[in-house]
Amino acid sequence: MELQFSRHRRLRQSAGMRSLVRETYLHTEDLIYPLFVVEGENKRNEIPSMPGVYHISLDHLNKEMQEVVDLGIKSVILFGVPDEKDATGTGAYHDHGIVQRAISQTKEAFPELVVIADTCLCQYTDHGHCGIVKDGQVLNDPSLQLLAQTAVSQAKAGADIIAPSNMMDGFVAAIRQGLDEAGFDHIAIMSYGVKYSSAFYGPFRDAAHSTPQFGDRKTYQMDPANRMEALREAESDMLEGADFLIVKPALAYLDIIRDVKNTFNVPIVAYNVSGEYSMIKAAAQNGWVDEKAIVMESMIGMKRAGADLILTYFAKDIARWLKDQ
Ligand code: PBG
Repeated sequence: MELQFSRHRRLRQSAGMRSLVRETYLHTEDLIYPLFVVEGENKRNEIPSMPGVYHISLDHLNKEMQEVVDLGIKSVILFGVPDEKDATGTGAYHDHGIVQRAISQTKEAFPELVVIADTCLCQYTDHGHCGIVKDGQVLNDPSLQLLAQTAVSQAKAGADIIAPSNMMDGFVAAIRQGLDEAGFDHIAIMSYGVKYSSAFYGPFRDAAHSTPQFGDRKTYQMDPANRMEALREAESDMLEGADFLIVKPALAYLDIIRDVKNTFNVPIVAYNVSGEYSMIKAAAQNGWVDEKAIVMESMIGMKRAGADLILTYFAKDIARWLKDQ
């Protein structure tokens, strides 16, 4: 009897054919580029655990932003790394804090660039937690007021989008109310709605000097074992007024990106976090993997999983590679 089977290779036989049937694309417009801004002058210091990522002082920032704009990237997210920290993270909501100055300088020079502000306290608190601490506990409700204040100060500086990453319950509601009351009802919230307690943030904590000084973040960030919980977290953020939802980290959580994409009708953002970045960088520097191929495959994986946008330290490299194609 004649053998019966399907010939899938018909659609893969040439580059033209493969391109004709390609289902998923990555565009430069999908990318959000993160930057770390620091106090002081004349600084563009490479972060040891994140090769190719820098601590940048404000006098070097416009040059950096010009490069981003020239590459066609439409959006950046700014992380402030202050010199001084205290128990309540005062630097986070100071009108002239490092991130507020970076935002206003960037919006002045590049009004078209969409500037996102990461809204958290951990870089600014001396204990390194994302909220107020009392008797060794991270307090939820008293932290909300400070987060709303932080968001308002960032909006005042000119941020287009507020991205709260602190994982206190009610953070979207508190920030939405704070923004609205201050006259910023047009400012969008990109919530880190689904944020796992992850070892993949290690290099970022070096970069942002935000390692918790005691304990861990497990009472506020999510358990990597949980999937239903991700939908509950995302649902409450939606009800509280989130305009975008971030899933973080990305590569070990592609199933969650798909679940969230299938359930909610807002743009979904995959956060390709520091550990994911540094692992590829380290392997590539050793000549063990082909950096460009691995990065592009990872990005397509995130998009195929349902990400509309990707927040990644590789954004500038990707924009260059897409241009060369
Ligand atoms: C602040 C914050 C963190 C990251 C983004 N915002 C660190 C953390 O939660 O410990 C991690 C980003 C990365 O690893 O690239 N809360």
